[in-house]
Amino acid sequence: MGKINAMIVVGARPNFMKASPLVRAMKKSGNFVVSLMHTGQHYDFLMSKSFFRNLNLPRPNIYLAVGSDTAIRQTAKIMIDSEKHLLKLKPDVVIVLGDVNSTIAVALAAKHLNIPVAHVEAGLRSRDMSMPEEINRILTDHISDFLFTTEESANKNLIKEGIDRKKIYFTGNVMIDSLLFNFFKIRFSSILHKFKIHSKEYALLTLHRPSNVDKKENFLKILESLKTIEKHLPIIFPVHPRTKKQIENLKLLPHINRLKKVVLIPPLGYIDFMKLALESRFILTDSGGIQEESTVLGTPCVTLRENTERPATVASGANVVAGTNPKKVIFAAKSIIFGKPKKIKIPKYWDGNAAERIVKILSAKFTKK
Ligand code: UD1
Repeated sequence: MGKINAMIVVGARPNFMKASPLVRAMKKSGNFVVSLMHTGQHYDFLMSKSFFRNLNLPRPNIYLAVGSDTAIRQTAKIMIDSEKHLLKLKPDVVIVLGDVNSTIAVALAAKHLNIPVAHVEAGLRSRDMSMPEEINRILTDHISDFLFTTEESANKNLIKEGIDRKKIYFTGNVMIDSLLFNFFKIRFSSILHKFKIHSKEYALLTLHRPSNVDKKENFLKILESLKTIEKHLPIIFPVHPRTKKQIENLKLLPHINRLKKVVLIPPLGYIDFMKLALESRFILTDSGGIQEESTVLGTPCVTLRENTERPATVASGANVVAGTNPKKVIFAAKSIIFGKPKKIKIPKYWDGNAAERIVKILSAKFTKK
């Protein structure tokens, strides 16, 4: 019996923790020859290589080194550069993850070459077309042959958009597979000692969405909220490269320096970041993945966006979508600091076995007689 030639595509930070359980499950099944294509959308050690180490990901077979650019040029470059590798390797299936520019770029290139595409984390919708990720999600879903979903809302979204039910598989959350698989290492990370902080005595902040960090007035609104929150708890802030650049471009450093208890640090590796998330009193974020991870860690999350494509995190009781209006953000933060802890219900199939389910389905579909 011939093995299935599967290519997994990664490009940016949130892809790495989704790829790792898939690679592991494919190897375990013995049915696959796996190749890993890294587009190089994220390239710094702290945004990419450290994740390969932390997550035990194999060296990519293909590295495109596309680097930073506008969404249009980045997407186009990835399409052009991936073509020759797709033609050479002739994968039976290309697996794309999440909603980054690399996801749609390689999915589209593969489809043009008649290669079946599997989209992991399909069907999520924010209904906000000003988000580059929403465009990437919709387009990728509509050209994919296998749509693997993480929550019930995604199944409904896809069906409403006319996607054939036979292509939709509710398999759960591979990002949570990574979290549960690495939980032992996470618990024993010494990062709290390094920053001399104690469990539940700080809040954790991440910011990188263009809507929050590319416009000075929006960024300032967030800083205004922090001014009140830091009176109650110090805030640890690992700064994304986009955000660092914007702090310089928008000349925000004097405003940040006025905050006394907001501690800016470089981006962290996966294990240390998850430890900070686990032990924090609550998380303030505009990330998609962190909303999901906080749900499973049992850490309350205040989402600094007007919407979420992940409503299961809100239904679970872990996440509050507060937007960026300081009044609302401060209210949400104070409700956590002074309120009773909420009971959190973990969404269906966020159980550590999503990759196994996906691999079983792909094995059944592609096994060569
Ligand atoms: C991307 C994803 C987003 C994901 C996020 C996680 C898209 C459209 N967006 O956003 O969905 O949540 O990653 O991190 O794909 N940069 C560096 N070093 C790096 C990587 C980036 O300095 O290793 C800088 C670049 O100069 C660039 C900026 O960060 O200007 C943004 O990078 P970009 O690839 O546009 O996407 P992100 O904002 O990181």
